[in-house]
Amino acid sequence: MAKLITKEQTARQQSFIMKLKEENMRYAAQNGHSRLALTETYGCQQNENDTERIRGMLKEAGFEFTSDTNAADIVIYNTCAVRENAEQKVFGRLGILKHIKENRRDMIIGVCGCMVQQEHITEKIKRVHEHVDLVFGTHALYKMPELLYKAMHEKKTVVDIEQSDGAIAEDIPMLRDDSNKAWVSVMYGCNNFCSYCIVPYVRGRERSRTPDAVLREVRELAAKGCTEISLLGQNVNSYGKDLDTETDFSDLIRMVNDIDGVERIRFMTSHPKDLSDKLIHTIAECDKVCKQLHLPFQAGSDNILRQMNRKYTKAEYLEKIEKVKKEIPNISLSTDVIVGFPTETNEDFEETLDVLRKVEFDNIFSFIYSRREGTPAAKLDFVLTDDEIHKNFNRLLEVQNEISKRKNDAYVGRVERVLVDGVSKTDENVLSGRCDSSKIVNFKGDKSLIGKYINVKITESHTWSLNGEVMED
Ligand code: SAH
Ligand code: SF4
Ligand code: F3S
Repeated sequence: MAKLITKEQTARQQSFIMKLKEENMRYAAQNGHSRLALTETYGCQQNENDTERIRGMLKEAGFEFTSDTNAADIVIYNTCAVRENAEQKVFGRLGILKHIKENRRDMIIGVCGCMVQQEHITEKIKRVHEHVDLVFGTHALYKMPELLYKAMHEKKTVVDIEQSDGAIAEDIPMLRDDSNKAWVSVMYGCNNFCSYCIVPYVRGRERSRTPDAVLREVRELAAKGCTEISLLGQNVNSYGKDLDTETDFSDLIRMVNDIDGVERIRFMTSHPKDLSDKLIHTIAECDKVCKQLHLPFQAGSDNILRQMNRKYTKAEYLEKIEKVKKEIPNISLSTDVIVGFPTETNEDFEETLDVLRKVEFDNIFSFIYSRREGTPAAKLDFVLTDDEIHKNFNRLLEVQNEISKRKNDAYVGRVERVLVDGVSKTDENVLSGRCDSSKIVNFKGDKSLIGKYINVKITESHTWSLNGEVMED
């Protein structure tokens, strides 16, 4: 069982929330407006979920929110370390903040999350970005109230990047953006140590929340009218392995499926090695579970898969996919792919294309390999040049775009149940939502439909989205 953050520690943080709140109320009374906070999130859904906790704590502490950096009294970047460009973006932002802070001495700048859990990054921030007031890693998230209080009262940078296998903090307040859909983290950390990946180093070991804690959260969400639940974990399908109970991920899904008010269940990310027959049956049998599976394969060549430490072969992966397709005929499939792992040759890359052609994913998330300091793959020499890797990457996109378009074409004429998210990003007269398989559907409709499930007839397909018409009841 994972270590839980103690009640005393939680109460201690609550006391700092109250101290901050008193100060913020005094500030608001004197200035006629509240102190404003800005949060920015990089990386995966788990990080988004962490930011909801950060915002929850800030709200309870009396802050209000802004998206204007120039107006913010406190800025917190919740960072990602998975690829270099995510880190560069944050350093770029910190550079800009330096100028803003020159005229606004009281501004508090905080950087937290995966990136700063790496010591070399925190050292760089202390060296190059002295204007940063607060740095805390993934294991210190629950301590934010205390750390922030310190940062606001001490003149030196407050840092907490304690290394840890990780504990679980329950009962942190959460401020969610969307009232119809929610992320629920069911486990944290990763034990897989894929040779290219930094996540296990910055997120600690796999640890599952108890079924009780997860179900309580989902029940509370459902009671508030939230109908779509996405269960999150870096390896969500190894949920429960560390628990004293027998409950595994399939059992957990069934329990969530039984909760009144929940309409849709999604989950991510699954590791192919832990995709059991039981889970496949559970997806097939549970009516609320969306018929959609995100199953990263990363590379098609057995040699590269071995060097990546992925623990399956191309044939084993394809076999699992065949089983999934057989048991769940209309399943929508997606995956993650890395192009340009150091030892990957052009022949190896052909195997990746072969997997795309054989599986025919609905869509893929593709990445060019990024060297991560401290991981085993960082020591390997590259076989291909940057140019060759980029050429392969573009070929990958070409092959997949054709498949994605073809998959979307098959939706034309179908009627899909869509949860309406809001106004389309590209046209304010158009609404946008997602169908069961998570494809984006755009259609004309009244704003009163937001948050509702409606039937939409698909009339047109693009590579990334579908267009449709609302069906009258
Ligand atoms: N736990 C999940 C997701 C981890 S990060 C999983 O295993 O599927 C999301 C994706 O980022 C990974 O699936 C992988 O495709 C990609 N990724 C991870 N490390 C990377 C690196 N060093 N360079 C490029 N892409 C990487
Ligand atoms: Fe990274 Fe592999 Fe763990 Fe996914 S399973 S988080 S890719 S180490
Ligand atoms: Fe990035 Fe951390 Fe998620 S490294 S992908 S934010 S777990």
